Amino acid sequence: MKPVMNSFLSAALFVLMTVLSSQVQAEKLDSMAERLQACVICHAAKDTQSADAYYPRIAGKPAGYLYNQLSNFRDGRRTYTPMTNLLDTLSEDYLKQIAAYFSSLHPAFAPEVSAAVTPALFTRGQLLVRQGDPAKKIPACAACHGSRLLGVVPAIPGLLGLPRDYINAQFGAMRNGSRRNSSPDCMAQIARRLSADDINSVATWLSAQPIVGDEAPDAVLPDPMPLRCGSVTPEAK
Ligand code: HEC
Ligand code: HEC
Repeated sequence: MKPVMNSFLSAALFVLMTVLSSQVQAEKLDSMAERLQACVICHAAKDTQSADAYYPRIAGKPAGYLYNQLSNFRDGRRTYTPMTNLLDTLSEDYLKQIAAYFSSLHPAFAPEVSAAVTPALFTRGQLLVRQGDPAKKIPACAACHGSRLLGVVPAIPGLLGLPRDYINAQFGAMRNGSRRNSSPDCMAQIARRLSADDINSVATWLSAQPIVGDEAPDAVLPDPMPLRCGSVTPEAK
């Protein structure tokens, strides 16, 4: 379930939207913090949010990945109306600046305290992330998302700092096609090979992992990716 905005949030957002779009020409990164207050209403540092927050962490993710998502929301390959409204009028160049700005931030992070889970569910989640399930043709998540699960530049996101409900919802959207990527859409293929229990296992395990030390994404993948992904193009590098 995506969060519904209350009237206070809608009003604040309306004011901040004006700030966001009225200064499109400004170039300096240090004023970006002011212009991007609208974003931080929802994408605040994790430890200031409640445990059942739905909003994904965007700080520190590879800039190419963030840019791809901003254009996906703007152009309808992902749907969340408040984000589409914010991004509707912004230029490619500004989206790139916004992506670079959030990619450069590293606020403190505290993992979600997970709901009661069975050890079997947790172990299955860890196994899928680290080794995959060859019998079901599911590659290890770490083979693409990096051994530290913090992503790989320029276009593969980290998997830590995402609330469990958010991860579950993304898999639902990838399976039913309401979150789409350039073809071949590797995540859609993987999402369809995972059972509902598998998805719950990885979401629960991932959301309980802390980010330790430097959260910068890896610079290169150790091996060729186990599947081709259309959003990870050589041009994106
Ligand atoms: C009203 C709350 C809200 C505001 C304001 C908001 N976002 Fe979001 N954002 C969300 C939610 C919710 C999602 C996840 C939507 C989904 O796919 O289910 C999201 C997703 C994202 C993602 C994709 C994250 C990922 O890991 O794939 C990026 C990037 C992002 N937002 C950036 C921004 C930026 C930049 C701004 C300011 C211009 C902004 N958001 C403003 C709520 C918000
Ligand atoms: C073949 C490479 C590959 C493998 C294997 C892979 N992923 Fe991904 N994943 C990607 C790419 C590329 C993206 C970015 C897609 C996009 O641009 O929207 C992604 C995106 C995601 C996202 C969205 C993140 C966000 O912030 O919204 C989640 C969640 C995710 N993957 C989870 C997993 C899990 C769990 C596994 C293991 C079961 C896995 N992935 C295996 C390549 C991979």
